[in-house]
Amino acid sequence: MLTLFANAKINLYLEIIGSRSDGFHELVMVMQNVALADRIMLTPLSAPTIQLNCDHPQVPDDATNLAYKAVTLLQKYFPDRTNRQGGVEITLEKNIPVGAGLAGGSSNAAAVLFGLDVMWNLGLTRIELQALGAELGSDVPFCLAGGCAIATGRGEEVDTLPHTPKLHAVLAKYASISVSTPWAYKAYRQQFERTYLPLADTDNLAERKARVHSGKMVKAISSHDLATIGQELSNDLEKVVLPAHPKVTQLKAVMTAASQQHSGLGTMMSGSGPTVFSLCETAERAQAILRAVRDKISDPDLQLFAVPFSSHGIETKGM
Ligand code: C5P
Repeated sequence: MLTLFANAKINLYLEIIGSRSDGFHELVMVMQNVALADRIMLTPLSAPTIQLNCDHPQVPDDATNLAYKAVTLLQKYFPDRTNRQGGVEITLEKNIPVGAGLAGGSSNAAAVLFGLDVMWNLGLTRIELQALGAELGSDVPFCLAGGCAIATGRGEEVDTLPHTPKLHAVLAKYASISVSTPWAYKAYRQQFERTYLPLADTDNLAERKARVHSGKMVKAISSHDLATIGQELSNDLEKVVLPAHPKVTQLKAVMTAASQQHSGLGTMMSGSGPTVFSLCETAERAQAILRAVRDKISDPDLQLFAVPFSSHGIETKGM
């Protein structure tokens, strides 16, 4: 049996540049793993079946689950090598909130690709795993790379950033509010398509992509300029998700005030939301921010986590 831990991610930066010919959006993002992990156990089965166990009510335990799709993708590309391995039982313990903008589903798929490569002796490189992961979802290649990275294209082109400061994040999400990623991008397109860079404008596109590599956020990360990391937090999808969810707007205001009160660095929504996070320098400050938010909002529906940054997407234990 192989046990894997798949970490959540937050977006320190998410800029939507325009449409792509494949119908997706051209993005520039800075993504960061945090130490909030789902536990995934892979057990070999002698029969050639895929069995998925997950007791979370919002997570499908059938072929629509990205973790399940990761198995069938490997079987499709490597029929000779996977046929003689039999099947696999996947047991999924969810700790990352679902529909949260934290790449919970993508991280699970990344863990299954990574784990089966080991268990089935496929000998794939990280680049090969990332190319397979991109077929499952735009965030899967980042989840395989882990740590901190710039992601461009539709999110699948990942350049890792070597030196992230070891910050702490307070994550807040109402359990009963989830955001569909396709909805968020569709709503953004409806409202902001007029601002999109034209598809044919390849020079400007290249320039916009290059700009993120030398952008303020990336420089601040490389030089451990913590105040600037906090100031440069940015997410275009807030423009459509927050107006659609007044409770999340209010949560962000409470998080911002708590963060300012306890020397936090900044507050932003992650990905397509609705998780809101605040960054700070120490575990003690993270706990103080968490307590201040809990004091203001005593709603049992509000899930709060205080977690450090992680330099890993996937971690393994035992064989
Ligand atoms: O790649 P993933 O399956 O995570 O994307 C979910 C949905 O989010 C896509 O079907 C698309 O509607 C939207 N999306 C987008 N542009 C991206 C990434 C996602 O429009 N770069």
